[in-house]
Amino acid sequence: MRIPMIAGNWKMHKTRDEALQFIYAINMEVPKSTYVETVVCAQAPVLRDLVKRQGENVRIGAQNMHHETEGAYTGEVSAALLENIGVDYVIIGHSERRAYYNETDETVNSKLHQAIRFNLKPIVCVGESLETRENHETDAFVHKQIEKALLGLGKAQVEKLVIAYEPIWAIGTGKTATSEQANETIATIRQRIGELYDEETADQVRILYGGSVKPENIESLMKEPHIDGALVGGASLNAKSFMQLVASAYNQ
Ligand code: 13P
Repeated sequence: MRIPMIAGNWKMHKTRDEALQFIYAINMEVPKSTYVETVVCAQAPVLRDLVKRQGENVRIGAQNMHHETEGAYTGEVSAALLENIGVDYVIIGHSERRAYYNETDETVNSKLHQAIRFNLKPIVCVGESLETRENHETDAFVHKQIEKALLGLGKAQVEKLVIAYEPIWAIGTGKTATSEQANETIATIRQRIGELYDEETADQVRILYGGSVKPENIESLMKEPHIDGALVGGASLNAKSFMQLVASAYNQ
């Protein structure tokens, strides 16, 4: 049984006051985390404030971290610090980080190992460009991202992972993959994990869809058998629309 997850990725949005207002607005409304896991991923400087004020069933996540434990890496954030301040989740390999900050499948793999070492739960992002989809190369491309990301991880570690399938062409564009398209690709990711590990691992790993998820399309996405929830950008910024997404995941 995979517990559904709605994870908000605020990206570079919200001041401290806005972040706190949001957390106070949702704390009491969030269903038990045994039914739906509700995660808010914020900018690093506000994470500690959110952790201190998170309601019983809300989980806080970072949007990135460095793969080294410490050192001369000006401007970076370590997994050790994230663990130390009580953060639960960390997004790794978001397509924006791959596109703008040169993250590669190799750095994604190093970061995954490092996150797990410091008891953070990774949300690993994969997804293809429009060109790759139009060339009918989506499955091969996404499978390669998965294989490289998971290199060296054992079954017990992979079972606890959250993977987010986010087609780049659907992020922030208003173009959602149809729920069938999303389900199809997610099913092949699950199948590939089954081949790399075993059926049980493939059954346990949670795979989210991300890309223009909104209250209007969440229901049809959640109905699909392989989609375990959503990683949400724009629609996670407003407490009301975020809670509509969480409620839909709960009612599914
Ligand atoms: P949007 O929901 O704004 O399309 O962003 C998706 C995303 O990148 C979440 O990580």
